[in-house]
Amino acid sequence: MAARLTTRVLSGRDAVAEAGRLLRSGGIVAIPTETVYGLAASAYDEVACRRIFAAKGRPQDNPLIVHVADMEAVRQIWREVPPQALLLMEAFWPGPLSIILPKSDRIPDTVSAGLDTVAVRMPASQTAREIIREAGVPLAAPSANRSGRPSPTSAQHVLMDMDGRIPLIVDDGPCAVGVESTVVDLTGDVPVVLRPGDIRAEDIARTIGSAEKGTKNRESGDAPRSPGMKYAHYAPKAAVCVYDGEGVPAAVRSCFVQHAAGGGSPVILCSEDAAAFYDGLAVRSLGTGPRDAEHRIFRELRDADARGNDLILVHYEESMGEAVRDRISRAAGARRGESS
Ligand code: TXA
Ligand code: MG
Repeated sequence: MAARLTTRVLSGRDAVAEAGRLLRSGGIVAIPTETVYGLAASAYDEVACRRIFAAKGRPQDNPLIVHVADMEAVRQIWREVPPQALLLMEAFWPGPLSIILPKSDRIPDTVSAGLDTVAVRMPASQTAREIIREAGVPLAAPSANRSGRPSPTSAQHVLMDMDGRIPLIVDDGPCAVGVESTVVDLTGDVPVVLRPGDIRAEDIARTIGSAEKGTKNRESGDAPRSPGMKYAHYAPKAAVCVYDGEGVPAAVRSCFVQHAAGGGSPVILCSEDAAAFYDGLAVRSLGTGPRDAEHRIFRELRDADARGNDLILVHYEESMGEAVRDRISRAAGARRGESS
């Protein structure tokens, strides 16, 4: 393993310049984006990209997303830019939409994890785009968490996972969106949303005529098309249990009371409205609607660990949206509430 580094947390103009310097010389740097913090390296530098996998403990077969600061940059990264891609870029860039297309030879196999495609997005975060410009190259960047942990939505979260493993974290405050980008695959006949995010499949379908939801490979039936979807994800130290459907408040309350009586320390995550059901119990609000829930979910998972909660009971409601449902069900793994 590499020698332990001193990890600096910097912000402002100096931080951007220092990030550029490190990235130009083959280093890795944690950078802010509007979705979650990313762990970046030059997308053209195979050795630097290998350092990302090592620092995260990321499986080698899980490809990285490439980040650009201008539309023209995609011409070096994808083999071709089809009309559907141009329409999506016009509509949603800069913003939380990653588009998958066949890759050019400039992109090393380490970035694409051996696939012949690559995901690209232009972040809405101005600081992220300044860092890309300063580096002078597109940046490959997965979320800046240790593999399997909740994605980081603040510089403090990155430090928790990466202290001593990377030289620099650029701090730009809490992320505006809070969940990772929507990932859409344009390599087949029909566009497929492989990972739900703040931009919905319906938004994409409105722009280019159609979009399916799903993670399955059309040809083989069950091989994951997005390699990242097959791994355990987003897991806090606490157990996570998701409840939805009929009779949720009674089931959540009874599980909470039983767990607390046994000496445990449970906490409930629910919408602002549903909090009224849990008067007197430890409850954290995910706000009202998908934007609030996306903004808060990863922070709440990490805060529960920091408080010493050992069980997180999530009262899910459809109003929280698909991106949040995806993240909490993967955080929960197989554990689901009886009432679901
Ligand atoms: O918002 C985001 O997308 C953040 C920020 C940092 O930009 N990045 C991020 O990266 O979430 P990561 O590596 O944590 O997640 C990338 C996801 C994984 O599920 C990966 O398998 C999938 O995108 N992916 C990337 N390239 C792919 C490709 N060529 N084909 C299929 N799936 C791909
Ligand atoms: Mg990730």
